[in-house]
Amino acid sequence: MKILVLGSGAREHALVRALAEESANHEIHAAPGNPGIAERAALHAVKADDPVAVVALVQELGPDLVVIGPEAPLVAGVADAVREAGVPVFGPSAEAAQLEGSKAFAKEVMAAAGVPTAMAHVCTNIDQVADALDAFGAPYVVKDDGLAAGKGVVVTEDRDAALAHARTALAARGTEGKVVIEEYLDGPEVSLFCISDGIDVVPLAAAQDFKRAYDDDKGPNTGGMGAYSPLPWAPADLTEEVLERVARPTITAMAQRGTPFAGVLYVGLALTSRGLRVVEFNARFGDPETQVVLARLLTPLSALLMASATSSLAELPRLQWRDESAVTVVVAAHGYPAQVRSGDEIDGVDAAASVPGVHVLHAGTARDDAGQLVTSGGRVLSVVGVGRDLTQARVAAYEGVARIEIEGSHHRSDIALRAALG
Ligand code: AMP
Ligand code: GLY
Repeated sequence: MKILVLGSGAREHALVRALAEESANHEIHAAPGNPGIAERAALHAVKADDPVAVVALVQELGPDLVVIGPEAPLVAGVADAVREAGVPVFGPSAEAAQLEGSKAFAKEVMAAAGVPTAMAHVCTNIDQVADALDAFGAPYVVKDDGLAAGKGVVVTEDRDAALAHARTALAARGTEGKVVIEEYLDGPEVSLFCISDGIDVVPLAAAQDFKRAYDDDKGPNTGGMGAYSPLPWAPADLTEEVLERVARPTITAMAQRGTPFAGVLYVGLALTSRGLRVVEFNARFGDPETQVVLARLLTPLSALLMASATSSLAELPRLQWRDESAVTVVVAAHGYPAQVRSGDEIDGVDAAASVPGVHVLHAGTARDDAGQLVTSGGRVLSVVGVGRDLTQARVAAYEGVARIEIEGSHHRSDIALRAALG
């Protein structure tokens, strides 16, 4: 199969790696890709979120399948453009991607579908924000309505900080600004990726992400500092409950609105003392959860993505999983998630990848003029360890991380620790 993958992060490296490992016969292309992806795919210097440029590339390459990694191309209508060009594409339409692109839209769909989620007020001015904050009380949850790369959310005990974030978010979009104020959800978070073709739904293995920058969930929110799968502590019927109460009703509601959702519905959940609640929907695979979920998937990924793209999920055989655990640790650049420093030398990637059970996925990496690998983004590498249980997978992942050398870099040392200890 000839496959074009759009995007340039560790999630896309994980997708490309899974496709490359399942068959030596695939011809894999990526745009724009990164230096790690370049070892497995032909790279094209095309902006993933430019529908015209992507369609031109698709017409030049003639792929059997286009796989869209990040949210920006989805919201920009790249899936629509590729579909119109007659090529199967994995990823929802721009309209359906509003499930991620607008938190207010997602809340509306959840209400229509009867999906359990946090109570919320959509506010368009600061007086409404103040009232909503006082109605829910602390801790305060303030969300920018639009796409913010996982950084638009502030959870704080400090009312002034909550108001300040709301003010900035409102101002950033002129008169169009909206913020969502939510009730605080306690309890552990789970990410469940549900693949849909617009009608049917196939869940992948559940994973957990670590959003805060530092150990013990301290520090600011990030795009995600690590992840693991499976979740030995989770209720046995969790996936079934999410399918019945969240994924299927949402996919049905989207079809009924005339905006069927085909692609991956990323269900971000909190398992609260009052039952499960949706924290967020995304219209794409999660990063870094994808790195651990795909490390465990035995079924060929191309078959799954193609079935979503061609409305044939009902015919797909039951998914097969490796009876192993996976842990990924993100190595972040100096300053992440605030002021990120670029251009630091990256050494030790091959040494890390030589640890048994370890592979290294690239995110914010680039080659300088001399061909040296250097940092070029906040989350630099995703080191993945696979082992017979979470303890073994952690040992592998952290042994890999220990071999990576990047001046000023940081990583969390407690990814999957509590789950491994049981
Ligand atoms: P979101 O972009 O909506 O996923 O929010 C990012 C992160 O903020 C989530 O993964 C949670 O850790 C936290 N968060 C979001 N909404 C809530 C909420 N209602 N209660 C508690 N924490 C939340
Ligand atoms: N890991 C969180 C996200 O992908 O949004």
